[in-house]
Amino acid sequence: MTLFDYKSEEAIGTVYSVDTGTVIVTVSDVEHLRSLQVNRLVVLRSSKAGQHLIGLINKITRKALAESIDEDSGEDVPEDITVVENIIRVVLIGTLLDMVGTTPNVFRRTLETVPEIDANCFVLEGERLTKFMQSISKSLQEGKQPLSLGTYTIDEDAEAWIDGNKFFQRHAVVVGSTGSGKSWSVARILEQVAELPNANAILFDIHGEYAPMRSDGIQHLRVAGPGDLDGSKNLDDGIVFLPYWLLTYEEMLALLLDRSDQNAPNQAMVFSREVTSAKRSKLEEEGKAEVLANFTVDSPVPYSLDTIMDRLIYLNEERVEGAKKGTTKAGDFNSKLSRFIQRLDAKRKDRRLTFLFGDPEHCMNYEWMPTLCTRLLGSTGQQDKGGVKIIDFSEVPSDILPLIIGLVARVVFSVQQWTLKENRHPIALVCDEAHLYIPARTEASAVNEAAVNNFERIAKEGRKYGVGLVVVSQRPAEVSRTVLSQCNNYVAMRLTNAEDQAVVRRLLPDSLGGFSDLLPILDIGEALVVGDCSMLPSRIRIEEPKTKPASATIEFWDEWSKDKASEGIADAVEYMRRQSKS
Ligand SMILES: Nc1ncnc2c1ncn2[C@@H]1O[C@H](COP(=O)(O)OP(=O)(O)OP(=O)(O)O)[C@@H](O)[C@H]1O
Ligand SMILES: [Mg+2]
Repeated sequence: MTLFDYKSEEAIGTVYSVDTGTVIVTVSDVEHLRSLQVNRLVVLRSSKAGQHLIGLINKITRKALAESIDEDSGEDVPEDITVVENIIRVVLIGTLLDMVGTTPNVFRRTLETVPEIDANCFVLEGERLTKFMQSISKSLQEGKQPLSLGTYTIDEDAEAWIDGNKFFQRHAVVVGSTGSGKSWSVARILEQVAELPNANAILFDIHGEYAPMRSDGIQHLRVAGPGDLDGSKNLDDGIVFLPYWLLTYEEMLALLLDRSDQNAPNQAMVFSREVTSAKRSKLEEEGKAEVLANFTVDSPVPYSLDTIMDRLIYLNEERVEGAKKGTTKAGDFNSKLSRFIQRLDAKRKDRRLTFLFGDPEHCMNYEWMPTLCTRLLGSTGQQDKGGVKIIDFSEVPSDILPLIIGLVARVVFSVQQWTLKENRHPIALVCDEAHLYIPARTEASAVNEAAVNNFERIAKEGRKYGVGLVVVSQRPAEVSRTVLSQCNNYVAMRLTNAEDQAVVRRLLPDSLGGFSDLLPILDIGEALVVGDCSMLPSRIRIEEPKTKPASATIEFWDEWSKDKASEGIADAVEYMRRQSKS
């Protein structure tokens, strides 16, 4: 019945010393030592009956102790005097209780007791290991549809479940070098999310990789590109416009203001004044008295850029009455706004920014924003379109990508914050290629700053409002430290770069120091999973998703060996000119 019915003679060694979470075990027989491996599990008898401590082997050493050899005596020392010490260092990771109430074999991640000196140490392997892993899986699976990643590397018969609540609640990171299997892991997780009747998640798809993922629970949206300029397509066709009026004042300035211009403060001031007044007119027109009383320049209220432009041009050319009657002099802002007007005009004409400045009729409607937000925040149960929303940002120019994704994240978070508590439905934001738009502070530009602020805010406060982040990146060293340090779950795939390894190592609990040495030697599709969501720090072979992201690694040699080369270079050039593949 109990899992750990070890007999004393099965012991491989005994406890030599105990620290808070680490135990040194001396192994009597060198044969035993040979059979051990770092990162394998061992069982230690606890000081409490009915409990066993589970530990992870962290280090194996065989040491010859030289001091027993009398070097000065000059005599030949018989070999058998050399004392050899076989030692393993074990990090304790949890307790297995034989029985809790009526449930047998319950694993807990707490350490209420420590082993006593001379307590027996056993290896956890074979059938016992399988049973142990299964009992862990079972406890995670109970009563709910479980989230499965794949199987454990140490025991391929045991399915590796993780706790879906904890994974999204306290944010997660998925890291690994390029081609290590991050996008596939994300697909594996999201396809299970999509099966839930009330799923709610947004995936930022930077390369349009996730287009093949199709199921009832998934809907595909695409940020409008130059091809959508005519405005004939809208949300119902899966095309998302993110009109300029959704941007905050700071975000708008990040886009339009050249801070090195000596007139920058004047430009910012005039712009703020004009936007506020344009928003006021709109609110008056709509008869929104309550909003009028409290709105700010940042409030998401539609306004017409044409009006703003006209005003700016007027002020830039304005002449006012001079000191002497009948004369005129330059107005306060005369010629000071030229650069700003130029930049605004250039941005508005930039076809790549269609989604921002294309302002088709429907987006200028006051009632349009709730439609957008319902689409973004709605769960499967609230809209018949699927609660996992994959948003394709592949046509958004990379220089303003941080600003635009940050905008979506901010809108989602704010609406979630303003949703009454009883109506709040949790939502996860899955950020693939996060280093592109949640960059570390070192490369701060105005555009990056705005995006990072939004994500750092979500990382810090999201838990309270039911907004979970899943940060996916091949360069953790280039991702905002604040965001990473708020994540409590780590899915670390093969990682070869030393700088990135160091970042991951710092994130993992200290006691698992040795565990992260596995990072460079993991196989493709294999991950170290550590954190709240996983009972044990485990090495998991992630199973392939049902529909695979279109991110295949290209087989250079094979392709080069084919008789026929693929065509389409001329088309590509045209797409590049058009800034659209459609
Ligand atoms: N779980 C898996 N099992 C088997 N093969 C896998 C698995 N995951 C990934 N692969 C292989 O690795 C390739 C690259 O995977 P993926 O696109 O997920 O990498 P990535 O980590 O997202 O890379 P990048 O950082 O460049 O986006 C896949 O096309 C597939 O062939
Ligand atoms: Mg990827």
